[in-house]
Amino acid sequence: MKTLFQRALRGERVERFPVWMMRQAGRYLPGYRAVRAHTPFLDLCRTPELAAQVTLEPIELFGMDAAIVFADILLSADAMGVPVEFPGEGGPRCPAPVRTPADVARVHAPDETRTRCVAETVRLLRRALPPQTSLLGFSAAPFTLCAYMVEGGSSRDYVLTRRFAYEHPQAFEDLLGRVADGLVPYLREQVAAGADALQLFDTWGAVLEPALHRRWVVPMARRVIEGLGAERPPVIYFGGLGSGGRLEDVLACGADALSVDWQTDLRRAYETVGTRARLQGNLDPAVLLTDPERVRAATHDMLRAVPPGRAHLVNLGHGIHKDTPPENAAAFVEAAQAWRPAAEADAQA
Ligand code: CP3
Repeated sequence: MKTLFQRALRGERVERFPVWMMRQAGRYLPGYRAVRAHTPFLDLCRTPELAAQVTLEPIELFGMDAAIVFADILLSADAMGVPVEFPGEGGPRCPAPVRTPADVARVHAPDETRTRCVAETVRLLRRALPPQTSLLGFSAAPFTLCAYMVEGGSSRDYVLTRRFAYEHPQAFEDLLGRVADGLVPYLREQVAAGADALQLFDTWGAVLEPALHRRWVVPMARRVIEGLGAERPPVIYFGGLGSGGRLEDVLACGADALSVDWQTDLRRAYETVGTRARLQGNLDPAVLLTDPERVRAATHDMLRAVPPGRAHLVNLGHGIHKDTPPENAAAFVEAAQAWRPAAEADAQA
């Protein structure tokens, strides 16, 4: 049986739009904070029982139509030979970043013993979730994972990555290719364990100039999607912050749906992609810092931009903010699930 989320993702007519939220399991939730109070972040990601528990918390509280396995995009960097730490404040760190062409040789196919925990969490979740709730597996897309490997952590402008791309194009392409080929078995493992859809996160994809974005960012995401084979479940590609003006290019990744950030005009995005892909997004997560009334109004304003007859995947334009009041997350999910999409015939009448 296909879930509502899968039907919408495949572009079938749906009675209502499915909803989930990027980073829906996280610090804005009391249960998550209670677990984190005595569990370091990486231990949480690597303990399937705990990771499954925090994945389920938002589903139990708000009833989203899809769960996303609790993990992090950087677990795969670690498994491919670039160790990752989460020292607390200031986000992730790679103590041995990829800074020279010689460093690229350290990047290898993922060590299964280090990724198995994610597949195990997926397995536990598939058993625990109601059958009508989809289960998303995920990974970074190659460019974004490489950007973390080169920078050694988060960055304001990704200037080391951009410099590497200009200075050592061959080594950079080699790095992207190794990472792309490594992500394929990592995602397949999640599918075999029960993920019924996948999301690729290319959060920083648009930091490269358009020509390099077309040369490397999108084709490397495509290499992962094609690598999953014809039997793959549907794939959603988040092209990243600032990618909304490049959707014509982004479409070439071959994903079933494109996830767009809040800076993207949804009406124009629909005009650009037409029926070539579904769209997911894109409420500004800052709206969820206000009050339930405003959240409901803004959610419905956003959904008025969806053309009649189209199935939209309701989400935020990026991850939920840690200071979000849970009641505002509840209002977002309720407002999305209460919305009745216009049929094509309504528009013609
Ligand atoms: O969406 C979910 O609920 C599933 C879990 C999930 C996390 N990270 C948990 C997390 C997912 C899908 C991610 C993806 C991820 N991780 C991305 C891509 C999406 C995006 O947000 O752009 C990126 C860039 C990362 C890398 C990462 N992980 C950063 C930069 C940070 C620190 C920033 C921050 O918010 O503190 C993390 C940590 C992280 N990953 C947290 C969570 C819940 C916060 C950890 C904590 O302190 O408890």
